[in-house]
Amino acid sequence: MSTQKIPTTNPKVIDWVNEIADLTEPDAIYWCDGSQKESDAINNLLVENGTFIPLNPKKRPNSFLARSNPKDVARVEGRTFICSEKEQDAGPTNNWANPKKMKKILNKLLKGCMKGRTMYVIAFSMGPLGSDISQIGIEITDSPYVVANMRIMTRMGQKVWKILGDNDFVKCLHSVGVPLKEGEKDVPWPCNPENTYVTHFPETKEIISFGSGYGGNALLGKKCLALRIASTMARDDGWLAEHMLIVGLENKKLKIKSYVTAAFPSACGKTNMAMLIPPKEMKDWKVSTIGDDIAWIKPKKDGRLYAINPEAGFFGVAPGTSPKTNKNAIESCRANTIFTNVALTDDGDVWWEGLTDEPPQHLIDWQGNDWTPQSQTPAAHPNSRFTAPAGQCPIIDKNWENPNGVPIDAFIVGGRLATNAPLVYQAFNWQHGVYLASIMGSEKTAAAEGKAGEIRRDPMAMLPFCGYNMGNYWKHWLEVGAKIKHKPLVFRVNWFRKNDKGQFMWPGFGNNMRVLEWIVKRTQGIANAQETVFGWSPNYQDLTWKGLSMSETDFDDLMKIDIPTALKEVESQKEHYKPFKKQKTLPIELEAEIILQEERLKKAQ
Ligand code: GTP
Ligand code: SPV
Ligand code: MN
Repeated sequence: MSTQKIPTTNPKVIDWVNEIADLTEPDAIYWCDGSQKESDAINNLLVENGTFIPLNPKKRPNSFLARSNPKDVARVEGRTFICSEKEQDAGPTNNWANPKKMKKILNKLLKGCMKGRTMYVIAFSMGPLGSDISQIGIEITDSPYVVANMRIMTRMGQKVWKILGDNDFVKCLHSVGVPLKEGEKDVPWPCNPENTYVTHFPETKEIISFGSGYGGNALLGKKCLALRIASTMARDDGWLAEHMLIVGLENKKLKIKSYVTAAFPSACGKTNMAMLIPPKEMKDWKVSTIGDDIAWIKPKKDGRLYAINPEAGFFGVAPGTSPKTNKNAIESCRANTIFTNVALTDDGDVWWEGLTDEPPQHLIDWQGNDWTPQSQTPAAHPNSRFTAPAGQCPIIDKNWENPNGVPIDAFIVGGRLATNAPLVYQAFNWQHGVYLASIMGSEKTAAAEGKAGEIRRDPMAMLPFCGYNMGNYWKHWLEVGAKIKHKPLVFRVNWFRKNDKGQFMWPGFGNNMRVLEWIVKRTQGIANAQETVFGWSPNYQDLTWKGLSMSETDFDDLMKIDIPTALKEVESQKEHYKPFKKQKTLPIELEAEIILQEERLKKAQ
């Protein structure tokens, strides 16, 4: 890997790489070409280092298990910063840091931080190669694990160097933050949790991440570029960068094919819905996947919004994924997959909670310890993940790499709410839809996060991912909507309502197709609805019930709105808006929507 021809003559790239090499002092620089040969060499190196455990090639060809340091298992929102020139531009929901001061802190940490390591230079494209919607980034990293993951999650290597030419790119600098002394042996998962920083400089389109090797902290094309930096680009250029899945819903009998997007907070079922299998009684419906996490959505001349998935792979939550809940995700990771923090079976395969009804009698858990069904701790970490190529999904949509994107008919938003949130309703109009998305959230559970029933608001599922002031982001949504002729209809769904006994009232998963069918039919103007205080709702007879025993009374319970509770909820929404109002970024339209909501509720009392 040492004597290499540099794959670019772009002076901006070469100067930057030299500058970072001078600062971080790596032992070697390696320019990634994205070839199979390179991938094999990196995987071998990771096996040699002990980072990767090769899985049984008969069961899981070309697949590996990585175990992270137990202190580095997820994104760290508390260490994530938006370093805009003005604090007001980061807004009340982001950690802000002065860019000059932050650079000073980072430069100190970065000095010599790659000693004893190889510095990899990865050119990657978010979005199909050469699409005018796509963005090119360059990630410098001292983690070969990151290189292996970026190869799956993005289009990277030789072709991207070519397309880049002398153009600009997003600078993404990553270090695990553990320099090695002369002759010192590395650990399998180097990281520096005490000094972790995930920082974004929107004005100069730069990302610097230090100290963590995990997921969104380290694969900088994903949340850092495709959401936090891209959201600021989208604001400036009139499009939307969203934490949304994109799915195709086709009914040959009815001769319709619709694409819809859905924004659900992290670990609330995006991957499931993106790969949904309809119940067998609804086999006229065909579902196809475009993306499971991020959507870039742009208005086109025909007056519609078109979406692309900027990613090339899935970084999916493993626990709970099974042939029963998500067969397509299971199929997607049958080969060429990196598993992180799942359990290892005795025959060299992987296991996690929920994969099978009965756990195996013996496993090695995610921390490398013996595990049996009697063990008190989970075998796989709750945020353990698989990194799998999107092209391996059996139902990948034929347009998934179409550079023009796919036209979107509906935006769906939703969180995890146990009480007083109906299964589905349609916003009265775009502005009302923006309001519904701005107040969405998930309930905290008593065990995990304090007071049960309290809602953690996660507007548009973008709370940890919006790169600027959330109030201005809402204004941007309103403006984008105002400019387009064929606005997607907006729906709010909730798969997670519970009864007094604490059981889910809706079977969810494949059965969500019953709700999606109504949504698609609404966009085509071929389904009925009734007006409620929240929006337009289906009547019992508007949904397909074949194959599911749910009485009209059960359905009414699932759709029920308790007025006094809803009025209390409005008070809490006002509190949620307060910090934005104080900073003068709360759009007046949303204030109006709250008043309208309150009036509808008072009238119904
Ligand atoms: P990120 O990758 O973190 O952005 O999350 P994601 O939204 O893709 O999450 P994912 O699909 O991995 O969420 C999985 C969780 O949602 C699991 O706990 C599933 O059991 C649960 N889930 C998904 N769909 C449903 C559903 O229809 N009903 C219920 N009750 N749970 C669901
Ligand atoms: C999320 O947390 O929403 C994810 C996982 O999709 S990560 O890429 O680690 O942010
Ligand atoms: Mn996500």
